[in-house]
Amino acid sequence: MAGYEKPDFWTLKAKKEGYPARSVYKLEEIVAKFGLLKSAGSQDQAAGKAGPKVLDIGAAPGSWSLWLLRKLAGRGSLAAVDIQDLGVSPSDANFSFVKGSILDEGIRARLRDVGPYSLVVSDAAPSTTGNRLVDQARSEELVESVMDLALQLLSPGGSLVMKIFQSGEEKRLIGQLKTRFSQARAYKPEACRAQSFETYIIAMGYNSKQ
Ligand SMILES: C[S@@+](CC[C@H](N)C(=O)[O-])C[C@H]1O[C@@H](n2cnc3c(N)ncnc32)[C@H](O)[C@@H]1O
Repeated sequence: MAGYEKPDFWTLKAKKEGYPARSVYKLEEIVAKFGLLKSAGSQDQAAGKAGPKVLDIGAAPGSWSLWLLRKLAGRGSLAAVDIQDLGVSPSDANFSFVKGSILDEGIRARLRDVGPYSLVVSDAAPSTTGNRLVDQARSEELVESVMDLALQLLSPGGSLVMKIFQSGEEKRLIGQLKTRFSQARAYKPEACRAQSFETYIIAMGYNSKQ
């Protein structure tokens, strides 16, 4: 029986802490390691805003959104988008959810209306077909779309966290991001399953003038 079926440490911890998915601990580790909410908060304060403005792409079932709302604790705001409904319904006045695909121009326009954001996080992943070439192409299309959207929606100095599947493309993506951010690198949090090909790209210090 595959190890995927057995609840591991992170799955049990997520259940105990009221999160629908174990992926929450990947975001927690990344945000802590790179100080992302601190940098987003100080940037928004400097701009005279109430707190960080965050966009969560590929948010369902909702663990990252729940965690972000708990961290924001009434400051700033969170917008979330997914093609699926969330499995949670946060009753927070600073939270908004857009249902649809970020590949859809109408949905991108709605997210633009709520922005700009000081932090964009994306855990988005396409559903897989089992055909490696098809799955890889879908994943690349989604990643390009997340990057393109983030470049339109981030405020100056903002940060991006984006899930990718390791395919040899990460060097090119990081190189591309380094032309628009003061730093960009890949980072694999401990909560990623050992056998998983996923990793995250973290880009900080967005330079909007280009
Ligand atoms: C791994 S799950 C995200 C888990 C989430 N971070 C959490 O902690 O609950 C990936 C999500 O990406 C979403 N997704 C895939 N393609 C998308 C697209 N084109 N636009 C928006 N969401 C998308 C899927 O529907 C799925 O819910």
